[in-house]
Parts: sequence; structure tokens; C-alpha cells
Amino acid sequence: MTGFAEAVTQLRQSLKGETTPELTGADYTRRHDRFEAASPQRSLVAQSIQRELTGLAEKEVGPIDLLSVGCGDGALDEIILEANAGQIRSYCGIDPNPEQIAACRERLSHYPGTSFLHQGMAETIRGAPFSLVYAVHVIYYVGDPGRFIDQLLNVTAPGGLTMVAVAPKSPMNVIAELFWQSQGTDALFSEDVDRLLTEIGLSYEREEIAADMPLSLFKGASADEDVVEFTVQAKLDQLSETARTALINAFETSAIEGADGLSLEHPVDCFWIRR
Ligand SMILES: C[S@@+](CC[C@H](N)C(=O)[O-])C[C@H]1O[C@@H](n2cnc3c(N)ncnc32)[C@H](O)[C@@H]1O
Repeated sequence: MTGFAEAVTQLRQSLKGETTPELTGADYTRRHDRFEAASPQRSLVAQSIQRELTGLAEKEVGPIDLLSVGCGDGALDEIILEANAGQIRSYCGIDPNPEQIAACRERLSHYPGTSFLHQGMAETIRGAPFSLVYAVHVIYYVGDPGRFIDQLLNVTAPGGLTMVAVAPKSPMNVIAELFWQSQGTDALFSEDVDRLLTEIGLSYEREEIAADMPLSLFKGASADEDVVEFTVQAKLDQLSETARTALINAFETSAIEGADGLSLEHPVDCFWIRR
């Protein structure tokens, strides 16, 4: 077995000429669900949002109105609404994907004060300001990240909070980036958001949340193909044996000793901007 840097070089070379289509539609949704279920990251992000909601309540900013930008199927927001049911006056989810917003509606519409904007793009949000505006793992998909952040700030009430959650360039994402590059997509990581916020001249806090996932999901008999495919955001059914071996080697060499054995780091950074 090689070291991680060498494994990445081998993987980069072995991906040349490979066909690794992007995940779309139902392929994306199913793999996303499997991936989230395998990582504690989502519930850690929810805890962090809950902590800030408690902070807002203590500051007595008034009734809490939430805006989740790129809400997806609402699974993250459900944790937040469930834990803070009495505290939240209204919740609005916005997502350009009609299937995701339909799933979100089905999941959350029984909570009081919920509303959903069909096929809403973050870039076009209008409306009354919200106490907390958050976008978890969404900034990768927008055309202009600076304008995106601007839009989020514009709809955050004075005294409120804006939060953007984005992955740092951890080893898992160094691997994923090779696939995105081969699909012609530019990746964006926490380091880029950090730079952008500094350039805009905003004061913010970067909260680094550590999470990890068992290596056994990525290799051998217990490997979960959906988890692997979501990790690299690509379908791998046409991948050659050489490239697959290189991929597994890259996962293996990036593993660390976690609480429950060998694990892959799956961190996320929350950028908090106080208005
Ligand atoms: C990785 S999912 C995250 C979903 C959810 N925030 C979560 O953490 O579970 C990214 C979501 O961003 C949405 N999205 C993509 N482009 C967007 C845009 N321009 N404005 C708002 N949402 C967007 C996608 O449709 C998708 O549902």
C-alpha cells in the first residue's frame, strides 16, 4: 500500500479515459439518503443550528422565522423543527428541484407555519427578512458564490444569523475532486468560502465540525456502493478494475483511527455571520 499523496496521483492517472457520469435525479436522491444515514455529520450540523436558535431566543429577537436555502428533502430541517417546535413561528424551504421540494413538503407540512417555494433558486429569494437563514451543502451548486452570500444576507433580519455550511478539502474531498475534474466541474471548498468572506469584508466565525465514517463502507465485502458513488458524486458501474483498485487504495490510505476503528474523516465547516 502507498501513502495518500501517491495514491491520489495513481487515481488521477487511472481516471484518464474513464467514464464516470454525474449522479442525477433518482440516482442522486437514493445515494444521498444512504450517505447521510451513514454519517453523523447531519445531526451535528442540526445541533449547531439548534445551539444558535437557543442563542437567538435568549437575545429575545422576537419570534423565530427560518429560511432553509437548498432545503432538499427537508431531512435536516425536520431535526431542527422537531427539536424547537414551540420556538419557531415560521419555516420556509426553497430548492430548485421539484422532486426535492415535494419530498420536503410531505415531510414538513404538518409543522405549524411551514411554507415551501417551488423551484426557488437562492439567487431569486425575496420576502420578509428571516431570523436565521442557512444553506447547508448548497454553495457548490450556485453560479456565483459571492452573489449567493449577498442574497442570503439581504433576507436576514437585523440581529439575525446567516449560515453557510460547506466541506473543507479533507482527504475524502481530495478524492472526490478528481472525479469532478474529470466531469469538467470546478469544486469549491471551505477554504474558498473563507477567502470570499474575507474579500467581502464580512466578520464571521468558522465553526469546524468533525465527523467520520467507517472505512468498511468504502472497501471490501461490507462496502456500500451507494455511499461510495455519492462520495465521488459519480456513477461507477463503468469503472475499470485498475481505477477501482486505485480508488480503494486512496480511501484506505486516507483512513484514520477513529473511535470505532479505521474511519474516513467527513468534516464540515459552518460559517456564521451575525447581522
Ligand atoms: C446536497 S443537497 C443539500 C440539501 C440540504 N440542505 C441538506 O443538507 O440535507 C443540495 C441542495 O441544493 C439545491 N440547490 C442547487 N442549486 C441551488 C440554488 N441555486 N439555490 C438553492 N438551492 C439549490 C439542490 O437542489 C439540492 O437539494
